Amino acid sequence: DDPAADPFAIAKQAAAQLAEATGVERHDIALTLGSGWAKAADLIGETTATVAATEIIGFSKPALTGHVGTLRSVLLPNGKRALVIGARTHFYEGHGVRRVVHSVRTAAAAGATTMILTNGAGGIRESWTPGTPVLISDHINLTAASPLEGATFVDLTDLYARRLRDLARSVDPELDEGVYTQFRGPHYETPAEVQMAKTIGGHIVGMSTALEAIAARESGMEILGLSLITNLAAGISSEPLSHGEVLQAGQDAEPVISALLARIVARITEE
Ligand code: 6GU
Repeated sequence: DDPAADPFAIAKQAAAQLAEATGVERHDIALTLGSGWAKAADLIGETTATVAATEIIGFSKPALTGHVGTLRSVLLPNGKRALVIGARTHFYEGHGVRRVVHSVRTAAAAGATTMILTNGAGGIRESWTPGTPVLISDHINLTAASPLEGATFVDLTDLYARRLRDLARSVDPELDEGVYTQFRGPHYETPAEVQMAKTIGGHIVGMSTALEAIAARESGMEILGLSLITNLAAGISSEPLSHGEVLQAGQDAEPVISALLARIVARITEE
């Protein structure tokens, strides 16, 4: 757990602990469930083991209500195994970017070749009412950080795989997509910052996912990103933002979007 140690060695150790705790050697797919998406864990299959993230090396206690703090091994109906990560470390918690992407690297070390990243986020498009799920087509990383260190010049073309987006749209042809803009947080953006995000090509504002996607690409995983629009971003709506309302919108939308995600997981893992 020494921050100076090799993050991939710690991820490998975490994956070994996870295999021991769950009795499952290899997971095929991993899902990080953000605000509003947690119920999907119950819908995709049968949970065979639930582990407190704090029992696994490199994971920290969840900082917030609305984040569950567990890792689950789920047996899908088709016999494949999903690792459900309900323990996300956000960049704004200040533990450093290695901590932020540790769960992704652990999933890769556990054998997962597909990474589904979900979040609750603010919408810049006015037509996206709270409760709308949106596919992430690409991202803009405004954190000024990277999970990669040294001369790792990783290509980020088609980071959020078109193949997986097409599969998701075959489940729900109505799914919109947009560019996710990761801010550091933990404060929400000013209206001027939201206008900036819009001007540079962003459609969604949030505080996660982009750094995790970069690490997932580095580890060779195929990535799907999904945002639940919990509210319109500052200045797009005339209402001020509150974390409570964001959580409430997530809870209200949860049954519908979790069912959608479960169908997407079934489609992605069917071949
Ligand atoms: Cl408006 N901004 C950010 N950065 N994250 C959010 C959000 C807004 N709404 C929910 N999560």
